[in-house]
Amino acid sequence: AKPAILISRKIFPEVVEHLRQHFEVDHNDADGVLAPAQLIARLQGKVGALTTGSERIDGAIVQAVPSLRIVANIAVGYNNFDVPALSAAGVLATNTPDVLTETTADFGFALLMATARRLTESEHFLRAGQWNRWALDMFAGAEVHGSTLGILGMGRIGQAIARRGALGFGMKVIYHNRSRLDPSTEAECQARYVDKATLLREADHLILVLPYSKESHHAIGAAEIAQMKPSATLVNIARGGIVDDAALAKALKERRIAAAGLDVFEGEPQVHPDLLTVPNVVLTPHIASATIQTRRAMAMLAADNVIDYLTTGQPRTPLNAEIIGKGARA
Ligand code: GLV
Ligand code: GLV
Repeated sequence: AKPAILISRKIFPEVVEHLRQHFEVDHNDADGVLAPAQLIARLQGKVGALTTGSERIDGAIVQAVPSLRIVANIAVGYNNFDVPALSAAGVLATNTPDVLTETTADFGFALLMATARRLTESEHFLRAGQWNRWALDMFAGAEVHGSTLGILGMGRIGQAIARRGALGFGMKVIYHNRSRLDPSTEAECQARYVDKATLLREADHLILVLPYSKESHHAIGAAEIAQMKPSATLVNIARGGIVDDAALAKALKERRIAAAGLDVFEGEPQVHPDLLTVPNVVLTPHIASATIQTRRAMAMLAADNVIDYLTTGQPRTPLNAEIIGKGARA
């Protein structure tokens, strides 16, 4: 019999077929989030799992499923994984970098522009039949071209956003990151490294593209927002928890900054109730990588990670490659 794997959510049929060539596939195509106890029950006897950000995979899960050898996240972010616990248990973890970089950068720019130019607020106004109340400064927003773009987190996606800003919109690009880019990458992105205080102070539009970790928890809270220009916009396409949503809602209500665009939230799929009532925020349900091509490519990469690791021992995009061969579950 073929070894068995679990796909934790409904995914593309062609990716399921691809996996069926190698495995018995248990596919949660009913598509609800599996609670930890259900996940443990569904994983019994399985060697691999494709997961999404909705499932927390920690030491307790992998201890309860001794057969499990790999968990492949269909996402570039992997804060739903306790990677050290997986490594300690000899379970390989993979994510989906690269395939979503340009698509996610496109969305970051879409959200930045929608926020700066007050797109959703003005659409609501039109739909509500209020256009007869025209004024010269109606929905007058913030300039995008030629303004200063601040990027916090300068990985692949941050760099792709920098190129769009500098080359497409003539923006002055400044960034802050744990480590500085090498000079040739900085030159290619036309981005200047600054400290975090300078980034907060100088950005007309600040976009967050850094991974979530204990260190980045509430990297933007009341104190950071207070350092931003009152005319500035803030965009978060990174992870919920990087922004203190309660502090942001309060700042938006008090117009301490002009507007925000948020694709990610603390406690998704819940949204802080105050964010739902302030007008100067554009809200989207964690869709930055959601194009048909990219979501399919992410699922296919996760599938290929499982197939390659379990057939050749060589996964494509491992997060803890150091365990391969050493203490990995066989
Ligand atoms: C989505 O948020 C991802 O991490 O891919
Ligand atoms: C993060 O992994 C990124 O691609 O920016």
